[in-house]
Amino acid sequence: LSAMRQPEQTSFLFVLHPEAISIKETRRAIDELIKLDIENFSLIINGIIPPEGRRNPLFAARAEMQARYLVQIEFNFPYPKQRMTLLADEIQGVRKLRQVGKIFFDGEPDSRLEEVASVRAQSEMHVSSLDLVRARIQPNGHRRTVFFAGKGGVGKTVASCITAVWLAQQGYRTLLLTTDPAAHLGDVLDSPVGDEVAPVSGQPHLWAVKIDPKAAAETYKARILDDARQRGRPETAIQVMEEELDSPCTEEMAAFDKFIEYASQEGWEAIVFDTAPTGHTLRLLELPVDWSKQIDVKVFASVEGTAADDVAKQRFGKVIEMMSDPEQSTFAFVMYPEATPILEAWRAARELGTVGIHPGLVVANMVIPAEQVTTPFVQSRRLMQEKYLKEIAERFSVPLAQIPLLPQEIKGLKMLAELGELMYGNGDRAYAGKALEASHG
Ligand SMILES: Nc1ncnc2c1ncn2[C@@H]1O[C@H](COP(=O)(O)OP(=O)(O)OP(=O)(O)O)[C@@H](O)[C@H]1O
Ligand SMILES: [Mg+2]
Repeated sequence: LSAMRQPEQTSFLFVLHPEAISIKETRRAIDELIKLDIENFSLIINGIIPPEGRRNPLFAARAEMQARYLVQIEFNFPYPKQRMTLLADEIQGVRKLRQVGKIFFDGEPDSRLEEVASVRAQSEMHVSSLDLVRARIQPNGHRRTVFFAGKGGVGKTVASCITAVWLAQQGYRTLLLTTDPAAHLGDVLDSPVGDEVAPVSGQPHLWAVKIDPKAAAETYKARILDDARQRGRPETAIQVMEEELDSPCTEEMAAFDKFIEYASQEGWEAIVFDTAPTGHTLRLLELPVDWSKQIDVKVFASVEGTAADDVAKQRFGKVIEMMSDPEQSTFAFVMYPEATPILEAWRAARELGTVGIHPGLVVANMVIPAEQVTTPFVQSRRLMQEKYLKEIAERFSVPLAQIPLLPQEIKGLKMLAELGELMYGNGDRAYAGKALEASHG
């Protein structure tokens, strides 16, 4: 720690985008370090749209949004800052890294733009039919549970909200839930989301709830320990349990336990699960599947011996069955059409495959709309996306849904409903849903 406190020995460089979530995360991380008396920070603000990018209306609008956040960053972080622009192309390989180093550190212009100016956009785009996409999220005789997973910040919350609103508009009784500790579900819905299931105001058929893993863990611990006490376990044994339960696993188990509670409620036709970033979620989902190895079994085991297994099977059996049945559950991986998010999603999907769960849908977010390809800069980025959309389609070979890149952050029911139409089209029950709404006033 003492070396980390010395600016001569250690630098902390925070890389962030000029966006709300990124600013919030940076704030949180910096505040944590300040508690440890570490203060030698500097910032790299990445992804800033360059002047040539702003000749296009979509990117111009995004640049305006960035400008507002840059002011906020300036105001909130009194540390040295460096800006890195969004390049027209991806950064991959040593040669490109050297080139990019010159642009960022020596102030050379990004000359590659001229190279792309002559390239024409390919018209070949990898799109799945909306029927196939819809078939992965619509209830089909029984309830459908859709899990949105993926790397941090790729758009899981946005995709979950769009999907839940769309399903509700089709008239399905829909529950939207999140276990993301930093959930901003309420921001996106523009309507508060609390720890109890409550209707989302302004959207008939939609309910939402936030699962707080910390709070859930407390309840869960108390329940298990109470149970043990009631069975007359000696205080020493209870102390051992208490220690065992003091693990990060407990929060995940408890969050999952809470999910099961909601999933066991009758009456939902669709459940949309906005999960925390990949690593976290996978553990969350694998835990119950790998139940026999988990800590709680030990806890139960110390109480009741082999009865623990029965308890576990009883509690989790139905949910595991539901999760691995593609007719009932869909795992949707969200990603940008770029190299790293695809790779991470691919690895995660493979890992999930080991417990018999396979992705049923992939969502490409922030896809530049074809009509926005009006300048070399945008064209170059769109070409990159086209290459990766193809890769997504080939690697995952499941239906591919798309969310367009928007000029601003996604917020509010109206915007979510419009995006739902783009992502899923008009469902079979669209009219029924609308008629119902009308009749309810
Ligand atoms: N297609 C899009 N166009 C414009 N902005 C978008 C788009 N998709 C997402 N965003 C914005 O990007 C940010 C991140 O999206 P979101 O919160 O859905 O990601 P997430 O995967 O849930 O993040 P986390 O891993 O932190 O939970 C939000 O500010 C959101 O408004
Ligand atoms: Mg989220």
